[in-house]
Amino acid sequence: MKIDIVTLFPGMFQGFLTESIIKRALDKKIVTINIIDLRSYTPYKHGQVDDTPYGGGSGMVLMCEPVVRAIEDLKDADSTVILTCPQGNVYNEMKAKELKHHKHLIIICGHYEGYDERIRNFVDLEISIGDYILTGGEIPAMAITDSVVRLLDGVIKESSYLDDSFTNNLLDYPTYTKPEDFRGLKVPEVLLSGNHQKIKEYRLKEQIRKTKEKRPDLLEVKDE
Ligand SMILES: C[S@@+](CC[C@H](N)C(=O)[O-])C[C@H]1O[C@@H](n2cnc3c(N)ncnc32)[C@H](O)[C@@H]1O
Repeated sequence: MKIDIVTLFPGMFQGFLTESIIKRALDKKIVTINIIDLRSYTPYKHGQVDDTPYGGGSGMVLMCEPVVRAIEDLKDADSTVILTCPQGNVYNEMKAKELKHHKHLIIICGHYEGYDERIRNFVDLEISIGDYILTGGEIPAMAITDSVVRLLDGVIKESSYLDDSFTNNLLDYPTYTKPEDFRGLKVPEVLLSGNHQKIKEYRLKEQIRKTKEKRPDLLEVKDE
């Protein structure tokens, strides 16, 4: 898989690309991630990429020309262009599982007041990572990239994410590690029993209990 991230702040991705599982996926060449400076696509003087909004109002708006030039240069027949945008569909694990099958993602990071509305005509998907406003699309781009890359074959063991929260519309089961007794808080007996069938049943029961308690909305959603 190839992921191109178009941003005004390439430096924000340095830690993201050089640590932990994303670094490992890059080292193993399971994914290529390119961070592309939006300013390199502007035809305007002094690297200008934004301007004031028509009709007045505060803040600066990203101009069409640099963003569309970047998309047209990076895009081929296998590409899916994603606009990070608080007005897009709210991202979830099901979407990550769908995106992992795409060959090439181009993720556009907005900044300032947002985009010229006409840019929406040049993208395939608009994704929001939740109902709150960030200063730019860099954190959403990292969230999308991280959630997709960890699902690619060979990045982490499949067994590590099969029971993760949101799989089968359930939250994950509770996990414990040493010591068995922490200040009087004990690990459930069944987990120490060595009885794998009983452990499996306990975990499923806990997944259902936790989901009902914390996220009952998930139980109303059907898998597509
Ligand atoms: C300050 S925001 C602009 C918000 C815009 N004025 C609005 O109210 O819809 C600047 C950029 O950050 C990104 N962004 C902010 N919050 C986001 C979210 N929840 N999900 C995805 N992208 C977001 C988008 O790329 C957006 O264009």
